[in-house]
Amino acid sequence: MITRSLGSTGLSVSALGLGCMGMSDFYGPADEAESIATIHAALDAGVTLLDTGDYYGMGHNELLLGRALRGHDREGVALSVKFGLMRAPDGAIVGLDGRPAAVKNFLAYSLRRLGTDHVDVYRLGRVDPAVPIEETVGAIAEMVEAGHVRHVGLSEAGADTIRRAHATHPIADLQIEYSLLSRGIEAEILPLCRELGVGVTAYGVLSRGLLSGHWSRDRAVAAGDFRQSAPRFTGENLDRNLALVEALRAVADAKHATVAQVAIGWVLSRGQDVVPLVGARRRERLAEALGALELELTPQDLAAIERAVPPGAAAGDRCHAPQMAALDSERGGAAAR
Ligand SMILES: NC(=O)c1ccc[n+]([C@@H]2O[C@H](COP(=O)([O-])OP(=O)(O)OC[C@H]3O[C@@H](n4cnc5c(N)ncnc54)[C@H](OP(=O)(O)O)[C@@H]3O)[C@@H](O)[C@H]2O)c1
Repeated sequence: MITRSLGSTGLSVSALGLGCMGMSDFYGPADEAESIATIHAALDAGVTLLDTGDYYGMGHNELLLGRALRGHDREGVALSVKFGLMRAPDGAIVGLDGRPAAVKNFLAYSLRRLGTDHVDVYRLGRVDPAVPIEETVGAIAEMVEAGHVRHVGLSEAGADTIRRAHATHPIADLQIEYSLLSRGIEAEILPLCRELGVGVTAYGVLSRGLLSGHWSRDRAVAAGDFRQSAPRFTGENLDRNLALVEALRAVADAKHATVAQVAIGWVLSRGQDVVPLVGARRRERLAEALGALELELTPQDLAAIERAVPPGAAAGDRCHAPQMAALDSERGGAAAR
């Protein structure tokens, strides 16, 4: 497995990470045994970056990861954990808490659920407008000092927040949506990360499955799956987006690859400082995603990919309006389309 350095704080991870969110939340029911088998298959293939959040399934995702990692070499794995979003028993997102005391409290529970004494990268899931980022990052820095955290990360932060956070404590990576359909970070955020030496962990590289080649208008979407009503997955937008997928399929076919592999390969081609996370929940999907690492994309291939899905081609925003409004990364006109 090839590795990439995330930022300049000494964090080296596999070129592809496994995001575990869908194993517990947001994408309808998942099979626990298959989820654990998928995590094990990822580790066997050399994946060293595993991403979770304490709010994914209200602790379920961390407990699952903790179980999957029992008996495995802890030092061989980088655990990236998000915190801060607060949930109600029915799953509703009811707030955000980036206060220093909350940071320590969330971390204490995460360590217990994960069955470990440290988290490799710890990050606030969404920037809390009520708490200066210096305070939140300062509290994570104290946890680094105490040995409970190794690196500080950010999630969906905008340029101003990235600068302030990095001035408080060196930031290893920014986790943010980045795909052929969501290229907003290229205007300001990605160049800033490069200037500061902050790595990028890209999520949604398959645009939540839309860009995987496995999505169709007929696909049954379970209750509790956010794609039931997400802007890009509904109405005319869906038809327009699926037409882009078909254009990409022609490029993939010519490369004897799948649509998902070409979409992941394109993100991998963005630079050595970008590490895509894939949201595979089954071994079969993981195997397909890992195939992207074998794919060689020439400049001609990359041009063909961008002709099939030009910048700004996506129909619809990447999430619902209230969630878009809560994204620090979307302030200042940097619409991450
Ligand atoms: N920082 C943040 O704010 C944030 C937000 C969201 C996610 N994340 C992290 O990023 C990870 C990935 O995000 P995501 O799940 O939304 O993105 P994604 O990888 O774009 O989409 C995953 C979806 O694509 C489908 N898919 C189809 N073919 C696939 C293949 N070959 N490999 C992988 N998935 C395939 C998946 O499962 P099926 O088709 O099999 O159902 C799933 O429904 C999450 O697990 C989470 O750790 C972070």
